[in-house]
Amino acid sequence: MYLVTGASGHLGQLVITNLLETHKIPANKIIATTRKPETLAALKAKGVDVRAADFDDTATLVKAFKGATRLLLISTDALDRPGHRLEQHKNAIAAAEKAGVDHILYTSLPKPDTSAILFAPDHVGTEKTLAASSLKGWTVLRSNWYFENLFYALPSAIKSGTLYTAAAEGKIAYIAREDLARAAAAALASDNGGKNTYTLTGAQEYTTGEIAKLVSDAVGKPIAVVQVPLEGLIQGLVGAGFPAPVARVFASFDTNIAQGGLSGVTSDYKKLTSNDNTPFASWLAKNKQAFLG
Ligand SMILES: NC(=O)c1ccc[n+]([C@@H]2O[C@H](COP(=O)([O-])OP(=O)(O)OC[C@H]3O[C@@H](n4cnc5c(N)ncnc54)[C@H](OP(=O)(O)O)[C@@H]3O)[C@@H](O)[C@H]2O)c1
Repeated sequence: MYLVTGASGHLGQLVITNLLETHKIPANKIIATTRKPETLAALKAKGVDVRAADFDDTATLVKAFKGATRLLLISTDALDRPGHRLEQHKNAIAAAEKAGVDHILYTSLPKPDTSAILFAPDHVGTEKTLAASSLKGWTVLRSNWYFENLFYALPSAIKSGTLYTAAAEGKIAYIAREDLARAAAAALASDNGGKNTYTLTGAQEYTTGEIAKLVSDAVGKPIAVVQVPLEGLIQGLVGAGFPAPVARVFASFDTNIAQGGLSGVTSDYKKLTSNDNTPFASWLAKNKQAFLG
């Protein structure tokens, strides 16, 4: 039995589609857990076992994970207070151990130990918890930045004509979220029972300036890329309405990029899926309208 947590999220939905359609896993061998089971009626109708699971609600987790052999633990988006997300992931791992799960797969981030991203300790702590667990095996999927992250900053940069960044000439080996789902589904559906870490990247790395130029050319609007000091970036984000702690987290992405934390292309995506990555150009051609929307 294959279990996917966070099954109503963007990644979770795509992983389940891949399990069903690419790997031809029968629906009755898939357990989809979510905080909102009512949103997964379509999967339930197909025969997927949809269950409620909230990593903040430890009392219900063991029951939610019972019967699963391989479990994909999708990192949560709980960044409201430092340590909350790590606590959630620890709850999930402890429940999986109690429920008799053999193998956990976890979505981490590249080079977590040296990452300047303020929430990287959540990933370091989760990886350490897996390593110290009594599970038979685990797979860490260190995922680079989604192409889709470009929807956060670039639409407003297209409107204003300026993109402020503190990432300097740091490179990012962006990857399509769909590719990450394909890799996660392949790793989940495999019978690999060892202890493995993969770093999932796209086929090419880009500086912030290079990626802004590609998007600018695709949508036909100029974007001037202006390098600013970190404090300037934080002040700009606060001025745009972000609470200071959130602005500091966003700004830490740029510090990390400048330090090379998201650089380096690997072949792990191909190793897991036997496919080539979705090229940025073809993703952009499909999605360019969304940058203008
Ligand atoms: N590498 C990158 O560029 C990048 C970008 C964005 C996010 N991420 C990370 O990857 C994860 C998946 O990405 P996504 O695009 O699918 O994001 P998303 O659509 O925002 O999904 C957030 C996920 O967190 C789960 N979640 C939140 N609170 C939870 C809780 N208390 N217990 C259990 N699950 C909880 C949600 O599950 P339900 O709603 O189904 O309960 C959902 O799967 C994110 O949560 C984040 O950690 C990585």
